[in-house]
Amino acid sequence: MSTIEAPARPLHYAPWSKTLHWVSALMILFIIPAGIVMANIGPGKLQNTLYDLHRSFGVVVFVLALARVLVRIARGAPGPAAGLTRFERILSTSVHHTLYALLIAMPLLGWLMTSAYRVDVSVFGLFTLPHVVAQDEATYKVLQRLHFIGGLAMTLLVLAHLAGVIKHTFISRDTVLWRMLPRSWGG
Ligand code: HEM
Repeated sequence: MSTIEAPARPLHYAPWSKTLHWVSALMILFIIPAGIVMANIGPGKLQNTLYDLHRSFGVVVFVLALARVLVRIARGAPGPAAGLTRFERILSTSVHHTLYALLIAMPLLGWLMTSAYRVDVSVFGLFTLPHVVAQDEATYKVLQRLHFIGGLAMTLLVLAHLAGVIKHTFISRDTVLWRMLPRSWGG
């Protein structure tokens, strides 16, 4: 009887996965602080600029997240690092999958919320997203709450993700960080 073997998982992320990962990471490092500042500083030119940039980069992050999922499906991804306990494996996989879900859900919530408030979402002044829900204060409030909770969850998950990288690199001293860096950097 012949057995069907599962395809071997790659040892490195695909080059496109790496590029998309680092570009979206940089954008998230701007989007989250900008979101917190703009929601708290009060009206003015700086607030308007931060709103514009927050929304525009948020839309770009959404497109990049979809591209990342497609590349991951097509090219696969390395498995959990060797030597992890079952709990650590479940934890790291859950953090990664929840981050993917939030990278897709947060921009959608932001768009729906802004639409319910009847403000246009202009992406870097190049084009404007259509309104997708009726103007309604109550709907806006619910979506704003969800966007806030999602932003909090994302902040905590990004910190957990960074803690994982620090642990792998400086305590376990394994190659997990190198799997996400250009191959020419060695590692
Ligand atoms: C991955 C993408 C995104 C992340 C991680 C994110 C995160 C956040 C965070 C942390 C806040 C501060 C919440 C608060 O303190 O109340 C915020 C506020 C806000 N975000 Fe986003 N956001 C994203 C995408 C978007 C997009 C695409 C839009 C619109 C199209 C948007 C619209 C807004 C608005 C209007 C606020 C201010 C809410 C208020 O005035 O209370 N966001 N966002």
